[in-house]
Amino acid sequence: MSVLLVEKLNKTFKGGLFEKDRHVLQDVSFHLPEGETTGFVGSNGAGKTTTIKCIFDFIRPDSGRIDFFGSPLSSESKTRIGYLPERPYLYEFLTGMEFLRLHWNLCYGLTQKDFIERAHEALKKVDLFDARDRRLRTYSKGMLQRAGIAQAILTRPDLLILDEPMSGLDPDGRALVKDILREEQKRGVTLFFSSHLLQDMEELCSRLVVVNKGKILYEGALTQFMAEFQSLEKAFQVQKNREAGNV
Ligand SMILES: Nc1ncnc2c1ncn2[C@@H]1O[C@H](COP(=O)(O)OP(=O)(O)OP(=O)(O)O)[C@@H](O)[C@H]1O
Ligand SMILES: [Mg+2]
Repeated sequence: MSVLLVEKLNKTFKGGLFEKDRHVLQDVSFHLPEGETTGFVGSNGAGKTTTIKCIFDFIRPDSGRIDFFGSPLSSESKTRIGYLPERPYLYEFLTGMEFLRLHWNLCYGLTQKDFIERAHEALKKVDLFDARDRRLRTYSKGMLQRAGIAQAILTRPDLLILDEPMSGLDPDGRALVKDILREEQKRGVTLFFSSHLLQDMEELCSRLVVVNKGKILYEGALTQFMAEFQSLEKAFQVQKNREAGNV
């Protein structure tokens, strides 16, 4: 069973005065097999964030079908999904623990008992345990990114969707995030994360979904993509030639 199934997603943003409408997603389809890590790669503006926002219905697609765990998104399936937005807004006056408590309550209401245990587990994984009682405004950029990841893994989700988890981090920060994701992989999570760098994918992903100018250019094994195209630039060129009818 696919943990996530996306079928023929289309999204158009209305243009302003004297501007044309922009059809930014064109029949985007892909799926996530259970327990696998799939990288979502494409250049800036390719449509990665728009796709992820449509998946969660944060923005309404023009058309398309999205199933999580075999059914449309429901309050039950939401508790099985962890999500890191591209630019998470973190309330800077909250401490690390308070920030996680807010997300725990939003996810479960006030009934679930094991918050402290889960929060400590998540904070240790992202190396923020010692900073747990400091306000977020005293965190560095890398620490804030890791706090966002702690929030995403807090409920031990079955599906983890991260929009650019390594963006803006230095090499040490990127290495740490990769280690966190490897830990999640060991737990058996189905992982989907976006990046504009193929290099980020090579270390973590078995599968790739490549998007270019709102269209899916490739979906399948990463090894097969590398054997066929070697680089994103080459894949984009092949797509351009195909569309121009040269191949
Ligand atoms: N709210 C919006 N209104 C109008 N156009 C938008 C809106 N959001 C995104 N777009 C446009 O949709 C296209 C895809 O943007 P999107 O943010 O999905 O790209 P991305 O692949 O996530 O890029 P990046 O790597 O820079 O994060 C871009 O041309 C962008 O300008
Ligand atoms: Mg984006």
